[in-house]
Amino acid sequence: MAELSSCPGYHYRAAQVVQQVSLGKDTYRLRIQCPQIARAIRVGQFVMVRVHGLQDPLLGRAFAIYDTDEDCLDIAYLVHGKMTHQFELLRPGDQVDIWGPLGNGFSMAPTDHLVMVAGGIGQTPFLAMAQHYLGRRRYGAAEMPADAEPLANRVTLCYGARNAEYFAGLDDFRTAAVELRLTTDDGSLGEKGLVTDALQRVLDENTRADGLRVCACGPERMLASVCELVRSHNLNTDRRIPLEVSLETPMACGIGICFSCVAKIRQLDGSWDYRRTCIEGPVFCGEAIVWD
Ligand SMILES: Cc1cc2nc3c(=O)[nH]c(=O)nc-3n(C[C@H](O)[C@H](O)[C@H](O)COP(=O)(O)OP(=O)(O)OC[C@H]3O[C@@H](n4cnc5c(N)ncnc54)[C@H](O)[C@@H]3O)c2cc1C
Ligand code: FES
Repeated sequence: MAELSSCPGYHYRAAQVVQQVSLGKDTYRLRIQCPQIARAIRVGQFVMVRVHGLQDPLLGRAFAIYDTDEDCLDIAYLVHGKMTHQFELLRPGDQVDIWGPLGNGFSMAPTDHLVMVAGGIGQTPFLAMAQHYLGRRRYGAAEMPADAEPLANRVTLCYGARNAEYFAGLDDFRTAAVELRLTTDDGSLGEKGLVTDALQRVLDENTRADGLRVCACGPERMLASVCELVRSHNLNTDRRIPLEVSLETPMACGIGICFSCVAKIRQLDGSWDYRRTCIEGPVFCGEAIVWD
């Protein structure tokens, strides 16, 4: 593994692919040997990855951290366009360029019941998050003592997919003791409907919203619906549910230089301004995001 360059706060390396396994339809888990990033990365942060030596596509793509061990980090990707079609061809021993850890990550505030809401490939940051909250694993070791208490008593994943084939990583979540609430568009697994229906049910079961915390990741329309749902729930109850949202805004550099990743974020005075998702995000307070 060669260090290509190192800037304060993140590493940029050529690193070896160790393993590639199928997680679901068109979805793979790619294990990359990169101890420097694996040991430092915190829940909700991301890495930029590109295929080493490839000119097209030249720009890296952002990937949430799915899991880590001492030496390796795993990303989980859905085969979608140019880069992820190239990823499908990667085999152990091949090299990728990787830079990270990047972004702010989730706040990881303790709570009684953590509810994670995912659609599309938005489940990827939540395996690490669940394991961390339930005290089964620690990420960003420098900041967390190994014997730290669990941060939540209960962790639920509301996860929506087109159909049963597209769920990816369900066994990983079950092994981590996460309660699953699945929805599909066609009813082939879980409830027929939208993931926001599953979230609504969780909120209805917990009308006092005591110790509830919601985090969401997925397509923009889904995230906007989650924000609206939590907002109207908060208006109608005396307990405010904190909501954090991880945006999947397309990115070119991942390090704050190109401004390709801006999102409209509400400021303290009520106005909005553009904020770079790679630097000030990808995680934002749900109430602060302005949806067009
Ligand atoms: C912080 C962050 C974390 C991410 N984590 C993951 C992850 O864990 N797993 C994963 O599979 N993907 C993740 N993504 C998305 C990923 O970065 C790529 O955008 C995606 O894999 C498609 O890349 P591609 O080269 O295959 O497709 P491309 O050839 O780049 O794109 C194909 C088409 O999709 C559009 N497009 C590209 N990116 C997006 C986007 N983010 N949202 C909407 N439309 C888009 C393009 O405009 C184009 O029309 C994440 C993105 C961000 C910002
Ligand atoms: S991706 Fe370049 S500034 Fe955010």
